[in-house]
Amino acid sequence: MTGSGNLSIGDMVRTEEPAIFRNRKLLSTSRIVDEDRIVGREEQIQSYVTLLQSLKTGDTPPDILVYGPSGTGKSLITHRVASEFQTVLAESGKSLAVIELNCQWLNTNYQAAVELAESLPPEAGSITVQGKSTQKVLKEFFKRLEENFDASLVIVDEVDHLVNPVDNTDEPAYSSLLYQLSRAEDLTDIETLGVIAITNAPDFVEELDPRVDSSFNPRDIVFSDYDANQLRQILYRREDAFVEGVLSDDVIPYVAALAAQDHGDARKAVDLLRTAGALALDEDAEKVYKHHVDRAQEEVERDRLLEQANGYSSGKKLVLFATAAVHAWSSDPIDSVPNPVMQQVYSFMCDITEFSEKSQPTLSRYVDEFEQGGLIETSHASKGVSTGVYRQIKMARSSELLVETLSENDSSIHDLLDDRELISSVVDTKLNEFYN
Ligand SMILES: Nc1ncnc2c1ncn2[C@@H]1O[C@H](COP(=O)(O)OP(=O)(O)OP(=O)(O)O)[C@@H](O)[C@H]1O
Ligand SMILES: [Mg+2]
Repeated sequence: MTGSGNLSIGDMVRTEEPAIFRNRKLLSTSRIVDEDRIVGREEQIQSYVTLLQSLKTGDTPPDILVYGPSGTGKSLITHRVASEFQTVLAESGKSLAVIELNCQWLNTNYQAAVELAESLPPEAGSITVQGKSTQKVLKEFFKRLEENFDASLVIVDEVDHLVNPVDNTDEPAYSSLLYQLSRAEDLTDIETLGVIAITNAPDFVEELDPRVDSSFNPRDIVFSDYDANQLRQILYRREDAFVEGVLSDDVIPYVAALAAQDHGDARKAVDLLRTAGALALDEDAEKVYKHHVDRAQEEVERDRLLEQANGYSSGKKLVLFATAAVHAWSSDPIDSVPNPVMQQVYSFMCDITEFSEKSQPTLSRYVDEFEQGGLIETSHASKGVSTGVYRQIKMARSSELLVETLSENDSSIHDLLDDRELISSVVDTKLNEFYN
């Protein structure tokens, strides 16, 4: 059988060139990249190397607390440094166990202890956790480490997620876990145990329980935002994810500039570049252009909004939808949405749907929550001395995108799109009444 023209299928398979991507995995942010693709962070790496030196001599290194915003290389650099120590120790015949615990999906101390037990390297055997208390599991965990390795390093990533209180106390799980890890040498026979805690929660350091403070006395390593220049370099080191020549010259600088505006998050930069490439591939474009990046940015933004909106109840979504609709659907563009107008439009939306109307205090609470989530910004304004103050809402995200995302996300809200004209006229009327 032949394929197209005179070529056999085998020849077609053989001669077809990959389009756009040569190695897309290089742009997967969940993968650990090789050292030659890591840019910068010399200072943090140096701090690590200095602080962890004693692992080489069998002494206990100081506890380390790593903090900084999302996507600034905390997990990546920590992993890299730890595996280098492993290699270097092995060169002199010593074994280092590196246990990486990610707390993102964990709540309690017990879950963390079980996860630690399950992360033991295979040569240390497995621990039966059934029916054992947190303490017992941890004790067994330390024992296995001591018996099987010359030194151990426990990395507790995203430690701030462990917030559930321990038993009948108000002590959060992370506090108890760090306490137990940092005191392991006093409580058990383990001799060399390094502890690294990683967080991106800005207040975490201040909130550490005083009891932990007294035993978990960490040295800090701070990771700060990347600037556009650093992000550019990070992206250029992964250019070979693409077929040679398909990235137009302005794409990487543009992605870096956008990501730098958005907190200097390398994860976002890499995601954006990958998404732009995927869009170009989808539309059979020959090259990746700036406009693909713009569309990728919209897509990334949409995903992020969707994820956030998914966390809200239907009732809450409607309030956010009403706010966005006032902004997006008013005939004359408005700078901000007066809260009283949003409430009236919301109330109208409840009338024409099955939604039950929430009370004013509840609405205020929702608005606070949207503000905390970075979706809106509020301030107080006044129309004159006699009318008193009101709250006005500025959209921190595109109101059109919010309207679209929320309606895609919820079928009852989606039905409101059919009444768009009617709602628009209510918006205009209420805005008019309010300002005149
Ligand atoms: N210095 C760097 N060089 C190359 N790639 C980097 C660098 N820093 C971060 N990255 C890339 O950015 C992504 C995010 O990095 P990482 O997971 O280390 O962030 P993080 O600081 O742990 O963020 P979070 O607080 O959200 O967990 C990864 O894909 C990583 O490869
Ligand atoms: Mg991380």
